[in-house]
Parts: sequence; C-alpha cells; structure tokens
Amino acid sequence: MEGEREFEQEEFEQEQEGREQEGGGIEQECFFEGDSEYWEQRYMQHKIGWDLGKCSPPIKDWVDQQTDKSISILIPGAGNAYEAAYLYEKGFRNVHIIDFAVKPLNDFKLTNPDFPVSQIHHQDFFDHCGRYDVIIEQTFFCALPPSLRVNYAKKMKELLKSNGQLVGLLFNCQFENGPPFGGDTQEYERLFNKYFRDVTIQRCENSIPPRLGNEVFIHISKPY
Ligand SMILES: C[S@@+](CC[C@H](N)C(=O)[O-])C[C@H]1O[C@@H](n2cnc3c(N)ncnc32)[C@H](O)[C@@H]1O
Repeated sequence: MEGEREFEQEEFEQEQEGREQEGGGIEQECFFEGDSEYWEQRYMQHKIGWDLGKCSPPIKDWVDQQTDKSISILIPGAGNAYEAAYLYEKGFRNVHIIDFAVKPLNDFKLTNPDFPVSQIHHQDFFDHCGRYDVIIEQTFFCALPPSLRVNYAKKMKELLKSNGQLVGLLFNCQFENGPPFGGDTQEYERLFNKYFRDVTIQRCENSIPPRLGNEVFIHISKPY
C-alpha cells in the first residue's frame, strides 16, 4: 500500500557497517540499540524504516473491537505513537505512551495537542511504574536486545493489573542482524508461559503487505 514503509533491516545493517569502518579510536561515539542515544539519532536522521505513518492495521482492528473505553492502556517504545493517536481519536482517554527518545514524543505532542502531556512518559520502559488493563506491543520487543526478553516479560507482568492483557504484534521470522531482532512462536510461548496464563499466539492475517506472513498477533493474560 502506498506510503507504507517496511522495517528496513538493510538500513540498520548499513549503519552498523558504517560505524565499524569509522571505529578504532577511543573517542569514537559508540551507541548500541539498548541506548536511548542510538534511537534518538535514528529519529534525528529520519532513519525510521519501521515507522508506518499510521496505526498498524491489526492493532486498529483490535481497538475497533473494544467496547470499554475506560480501560487504561500503555504503549511502550511508542515512537511516533500512531496507535495512541488512534485510540484517543476513538474516545479512549486513559492511554499512556513511553519512549526514551524525546524526538518522537515532541513530534507526537505537536501533532496531538489534545493528548494529555501527563500521559506522555519520556522514560526507560524498565523504569516505568504504573498499572494498566492493557499493554500494546508494536515493534518494541523486536527493538530490544534479546538479552532483555526475560526482563521484558517480567516488567510486562509487573505493569499489568491482575487479569490485564498484553496484546499486539511480534515478528515471526529471523533477521540476520538486529535490530529488529526476530523470533518464533515456540520461543515466545516458552518465554511468556513462564509468567502469564492464556498465551495465545496466532498468525496475523491483516499485517501491512511487507510484513504479511512474518507477524503473529499475541493475546497474553496475567493471572487473576
Ligand atoms: C523500532 S522503534 C518502534 C516505534 C513504534 N512502536 C513504531 O512502531 O513506530 C522502537 C522504539 O522503542 C524505543 N525504545 C527502545 N528501547 C526502549 C526502552 N528501554 N525504553 C523506552 N523506549 C525504548 C525506541 O526509542 C524506539 O522509539
């Protein structure tokens, strides 16, 4: 579809190669994907191949099926946060976003002036405190170094209310070098079954065309 941009792994790789070629000096600036600075630079240089420019269709469909608009929702690693803008437009008022890069959050404020500033958190996800009915996953998990996956699952459990749900999209494919870091259903089941009940992972049929067949939709519930 016009205007849609693929999660451009090549772009990530070229950048990594560039950094290696420049490397060697002790004064070299060294960023890695776990740094806020790495992501800040990507936004500053507009190297944002993952950015859809709109709410991801599978998440839009999920939102459209929700009847209780009073639920509290968190979107971590939200970037330009099109999903939050869509939720807000649909009347969900208790929506919070987190990102440790400030540029997308400032841009979001400009394009969504009515969205409460107190619900925009410029922070590391792992430092966030709160309790939510739902947490939405959209290309945040795949951006984290895989060594943080167990911490991600534990933190999600901590941030969800009892019976709360983690919903959204994960890649169901491998990438040569990350980010993005891929995975598969078996790995995700092993990870989330440790901390949650009712882990449902389904092939996603309404992904954007470049990701079709390479994403799964997750519904993961915290125990009562
Ligand atoms: C691949 S981008 C995805 C952005 C957005 N979800 C989207 O789909 O357009 C990953 C985002 O996660 C953010 N991020 C990565 N690690 C983070 C962390 N530990 N805490 C908060 N934000 C983080 C980055 O700054 C970046 O905006």
